[in-house]
Amino acid sequence: MNTASGIRISGWGVALPPTIVTNDELSETLDTSNEWILERSGIAKRHLGGSTSGLAIEAALQALAVANLQPNDIDLLILATTTPDDQVPATANKVQHELGLTCGAMDINAACSGFVYSLVAGSGFLKTGCDRVLVIGSETLSRFTDWEDRSTAILFGDGAGAVVLESSKTGGDLLGWNLSSSGELRDILHCEIGGKIKMAGSEVFRKAVVAMTKSGKAAMDEAGVNPEEIALVVPHQANIRIIETAMKKLGIPLEKSIWVGDRTANTSSASIPIALSEALNNNRVKKNDLILLVGFGAGMTSASAVIRWGEADG
Ligand code: UT7
Repeated sequence: MNTASGIRISGWGVALPPTIVTNDELSETLDTSNEWILERSGIAKRHLGGSTSGLAIEAALQALAVANLQPNDIDLLILATTTPDDQVPATANKVQHELGLTCGAMDINAACSGFVYSLVAGSGFLKTGCDRVLVIGSETLSRFTDWEDRSTAILFGDGAGAVVLESSKTGGDLLGWNLSSSGELRDILHCEIGGKIKMAGSEVFRKAVVAMTKSGKAAMDEAGVNPEEIALVVPHQANIRIIETAMKKLGIPLEKSIWVGDRTANTSSASIPIALSEALNNNRVKKNDLILLVGFGAGMTSASAVIRWGEADG
């Protein structure tokens, strides 16, 4: 059982399938255009293909390597996904086996908020005795996309992002979080078993801005921090216009956020760890920085976390 009081992210990784589809390529089969998609969403291209478990494994192997850990160092695997390989068992079980982990494993489905839900859950396990939790967001939304529906087909992509959470004594921690669900809104974005994704786009857009703002503020309040103290915001990568509006309402300059959706489109629960990994790889984070993760998605769910960045225990 660990006795450290804090938490830090010690490893991170990303997997994107090799096939890239541009807006112009989508316009060959859909009544749309590169200009419309870019202007309304900020998306230029997306990666498509792979399996949810395969992408999860690729991202997790990178995260383990960055953390300098072996598979049997991990005490728990949490995989956030809305697009599991199978109905039963959980995709996490396959990932656990193929990575050679010896710990428990489970899926969490909170749609595009799933990674933050999993990060908060993983942090809870660290506070109650685990030393290291592997948290992955992995999606193959292309399997559930209606490629004849221009209002949704332009938005989604496939990919995975993973982090290793470790107990730590060097200042890193989860300072505050907020998880919410508005189940009465489940019909505005849903996919029946065996069906394809259906969405009331502009309604989701409006609700998303409200949900992100409310959730982000609640997490900052719980953490006892002001918007001016936040060094980096890692928002769910659905639409640059949603991020621009939500950042204004959160009172944080847009320059403090990260946007990778131009290249990945919306990868649901993978989007936040993919964007966080890019920020880390580009050295945008330093010790003691406060990072706000904020997601929203079908459910309708929203989830936010304020973390203080910690470095390796010396
Ligand atoms: O992870 C959470 C999941 N989802 C989201 O976050 C998505 C939230 N919603 C959005 O991002 C935006 O609502 C969209 C990008 C989906 C759509 O943008 P919008 O500015 O809300 O457009 P709209 O749905 O209000 O449609 C405007 C017009 C309509 O035509 P009319 O009725 O004005 O003639 C649509 O039929 O644009 C039309 N349209 C398109 N035109 C060209 C809808 N999709 C397309 C398209 N290409 N792909």
